[in-house]
Amino acid sequence: MNILILGSGGREHAIAWAVLQNPKCDRLIVAPGNAGIAQIAECADLDILDGAAVAAFACDESIDFAIVGPEAPLAAGVADALRDAGIMVFGPSAEAARLEASKSFTKEVCAAVGAPTAAYGRFDDVAAARAYLREQPLPIVIKADGLAAGKGVTVAETRADAEAALEDIFDGTHGRAEVVIEAFLSGEEASFFCLVDGETVLPLGTAQDHKRVGDGDQGPNTGGMGAYSPAPVMTPQVEERALSQIVRPTMAEMARRGTPFQGVLFVGLMIDDGAPSLVEYNVRFGDPECQCLMMRLGGQVLDLLLACAEGRLDTAQVHWAADHALCVVMAAKGYPGAYAKGTEIGGLDGLPRDSRRMVFHAGTAEADGRIVAAGGRVLGVTARGDTLAAAHAEAYAMVDAVDWSDGFCRRDIGWRAL
Ligand code: AMP
Ligand code: GLY
Repeated sequence: MNILILGSGGREHAIAWAVLQNPKCDRLIVAPGNAGIAQIAECADLDILDGAAVAAFACDESIDFAIVGPEAPLAAGVADALRDAGIMVFGPSAEAARLEASKSFTKEVCAAVGAPTAAYGRFDDVAAARAYLREQPLPIVIKADGLAAGKGVTVAETRADAEAALEDIFDGTHGRAEVVIEAFLSGEEASFFCLVDGETVLPLGTAQDHKRVGDGDQGPNTGGMGAYSPAPVMTPQVEERALSQIVRPTMAEMARRGTPFQGVLFVGLMIDDGAPSLVEYNVRFGDPECQCLMMRLGGQVLDLLLACAEGRLDTAQVHWAADHALCVVMAAKGYPGAYAKGTEIGGLDGLPRDSRRMVFHAGTAEADGRIVAAGGRVLGVTARGDTLAAAHAEAYAMVDAVDWSDGFCRRDIGWRAL
């Protein structure tokens, strides 16, 4: 098969790495890719938000299967454009991608089927939002509606912080001014990944992310500073509850509305005393959670994504090893604020690249044969082990061998489970 992956992050590097291990893959193109992806696949410079351009490219290159990595092209209808051009795609339609693109849409779908999620109010008027806010207990969660790359959410401990978040949203900083104000959920967070082919839901694995920039979960939110899989808080009982109370009913509701979801559903859960509530849906793999999942799944990933795209999940199976994976994100100093680009990263050539240890690239570029930083999150140093402690030790041994004085990472990835 000729396969096209859209995206340029650590997630897409990990998917490419796994897909290449499957003998069904003859040719792999990643658009736009990055310097690490270029070491294992062809990269193509393509505007991946332009559905017509992507579909034309896929036809020209005789692509048999396209995998869409990030949410933005999904929300922009790129999967639809590819399907309309007769190309098999892994990834939801723009209609189904609203589960990530619109928080209020997801709330409404949850309400329709009684899926547990935080109580909320939705407003497009700042005065009404302020009035509602005054009646709510603290802490309170303020969310800008629409795609905000993880930056549209404020968990406010004080009324002043909540008010400030509201003002920020209605300032136009987040585009369309619509806010969801929701009750604070306490408990432990976990990411639960399910493949959905429109009808059948196949659990793919669990992980836990580390959203805050600093050790001990201090500092501002980021896209994710590290992850590990599996997440012990996701016991078989919690998983079954999440499936029966949240995932299956909402997926059935999407199908009933004529907008079935096909792709990977990233179920963000808060688990309190064994009871899961939905924090959010995303319509793609998490980054860096994906790096852990891909490392644990390997080449079977392509078979699973194909079964999903072809509507065959009812007969598909996930073969898990009883192992663990852990990914440490190395970011440019200053991230998630302003950071320098173009700083050189050394030591990568000497690092192992095998089925247990990989440095996945996110924001990297090549300059005169050297790897340089080209983004905020730059590397996803990932290792697998028979225990989480072994994966942790391997991953940090690789981190310590990377020679990049302009980068930093958290030193405590996996602390909850360790
Ligand atoms: P979201 O983009 O909806 O995932 O929100 C980003 C982060 O904010 C989540 O991963 C949680 O850590 C936190 N968060 C969001 N909603 C809530 C909530 N209702 N209660 C507690 N924490 C929340
Ligand atoms: N790591 C969280 C996300 O991908 O949204």
